[in-house]
Amino acid sequence: MNNLNLENSTPMPDPVPVPLRSDRWFGPSDLRSFGHRSRAAQLGLGRGDYHGKPVVAIVNTWSDLNPCHGHLRARAEDVKRGVWQAGGWPVELPVLSLAENFQKPTTMLYRNLLAMEVEELLRSYPVDGAVLLGGCDKTAPGLVMGATSVDLPALFMPAGPMLKGNYRGRVLGSGSDVWKSWDELRAGRITEAEWREMEEGIARSPGTCMTMGTASTMAALIEAMGLSLPRSSSVPAMDAEHPRVAAEAGRRAVELIREDLRPSKILGPDAFANAAVALMALGGSTNAVIHLVAMAARAGVEFTLDDVDRASREVPVLCNLRPSGEHLMEDFHFAGGLPALLERLRPLLKTDAPTITGKSLGENIAGTQVHNDDVIRTPETALADSGGVAVLRGNLAPDGAVIKASAMDPAKRRHRGPAVVFEDYADLVARLDDPDLPATADSVLVLKNAGPQGGPGMPEWGMLPLPKKLLEAGVRDMVRVSDARMSGTSYGTCVLHVAPESFVGGPLALVQTGDIIELDVPARRLHLDVPDDELARRREAWQPPKPRFQRGYGAMFSAHIQQADRGCDFDFLVQPGENPEPAMH
Ligand code: FES
Ligand code: MG
Repeated sequence: MNNLNLENSTPMPDPVPVPLRSDRWFGPSDLRSFGHRSRAAQLGLGRGDYHGKPVVAIVNTWSDLNPCHGHLRARAEDVKRGVWQAGGWPVELPVLSLAENFQKPTTMLYRNLLAMEVEELLRSYPVDGAVLLGGCDKTAPGLVMGATSVDLPALFMPAGPMLKGNYRGRVLGSGSDVWKSWDELRAGRITEAEWREMEEGIARSPGTCMTMGTASTMAALIEAMGLSLPRSSSVPAMDAEHPRVAAEAGRRAVELIREDLRPSKILGPDAFANAAVALMALGGSTNAVIHLVAMAARAGVEFTLDDVDRASREVPVLCNLRPSGEHLMEDFHFAGGLPALLERLRPLLKTDAPTITGKSLGENIAGTQVHNDDVIRTPETALADSGGVAVLRGNLAPDGAVIKASAMDPAKRRHRGPAVVFEDYADLVARLDDPDLPATADSVLVLKNAGPQGGPGMPEWGMLPLPKKLLEAGVRDMVRVSDARMSGTSYGTCVLHVAPESFVGGPLALVQTGDIIELDVPARRLHLDVPDDELARRREAWQPPKPRFQRGYGAMFSAHIQQADRGCDFDFLVQPGENPEPAMH
């Protein structure tokens, strides 16, 4: 009973032009709907609070063990403010929090689980649309994959980069400067005390890695795809602009629902073509290749490694950010961010592509200016004319491999050298610093059994550490080949994502120490110089390793995970067919 008669005292919002999905729960005068309305009352809401209002799910990936998302519990309140203002009903729904920095063996094992959770959560609850709140590496593609499959109006609100790192007045970049300093420590050039001091200076606030790592790359690509507010991908997490943008995301989500603007209307082939252009211009993370292929498959768009490589041949690397360049995300933001970068690349873009603003990408970026030509370069002063992330093929990677050509020693672009093979990561750890390891600066370090099945989950082991004796001799880059991924903040001549992976019997499984491997980045070639009959003999003798999991999520993962060139999604999540709306009884 409603003693205060709140229903009549609360002004009702204007009727919405499209029927609300949530009205199927709250609207009818039947037994089930009585239950839903009485439970809304239990939440403290009168009919006037929600009747006729779009329900916006704030899908929140906050957790106490996710420092990149540490501010998102508070930030959800800013999104809610925007949703209420625009006449919606915000509901915060927590989902799996993937913290790259803590979760073992790798968050990549769980990206698809997050995507499944997002899809089923939105499908099964009375929501009309969503704001996807997150940012750490696998979180962004996981959120987008789930929202794409359920196809409710949604936009992505990035967590934003953390403050710049600082050590004795020197600016430090997430990941990139850790790897560099670790090599210096192992080479005896810095002390243990200095290394300890960096530990407390490199991650100074909540927010995602502030280099052009996977988090920054994915936020930028999702913006380029049209799924987030223009220039939102680089707003620093701790800047007062961040809650302002969060509120705007909430307001816009309500309008998206009223306009029935769903991912399926935004994520066409042009969205992914534009994302590939952005990836190259950013000198972005190699991980983005896997996520782009996976997100496209969810959207039903044909997008392959060939599309990635086409962009890599056409697009100059303009963004001077670590690990490919020098600056950090805050510099990129104040230089104009993604819209300013894209405006410089306008001739390469599909500018008619629709976006969540209701305008085209071309309209969104029109007239944006670059405020710092060193951070966002011109084609004339580009870091590289092409080849941000290149796709390689050859008898060692028949289904493809990738390399971040913008963040490697240019002298290694064409290289021929003998393999030093590690059978798995434990073998690498055990033997890497053995003074008798048969490695020289010209060797090719090979790591097996680190792919989607073998890792398992394709851990970020692909930037293999260099043998200590070579570091001490001054070597800082070597050719490395694996079926692993590497962190978006990593660098070096690392051939990654070799497909098919060694664990399932890909040619990588057949490499032996001493075999000659040829890398030719300009020709996009990765070749194992061993005669075919010898490879056939080795294949005969090859024994498949024993399965990584017998039960649980891992067993499902192993049974359904696709290879890297297919985006590492589960086969049953991309196969055609219906996943119907739930029945209302
Ligand atoms: Fe979370 Fe880098 S560890 S974004
Ligand atoms: Mg990372």
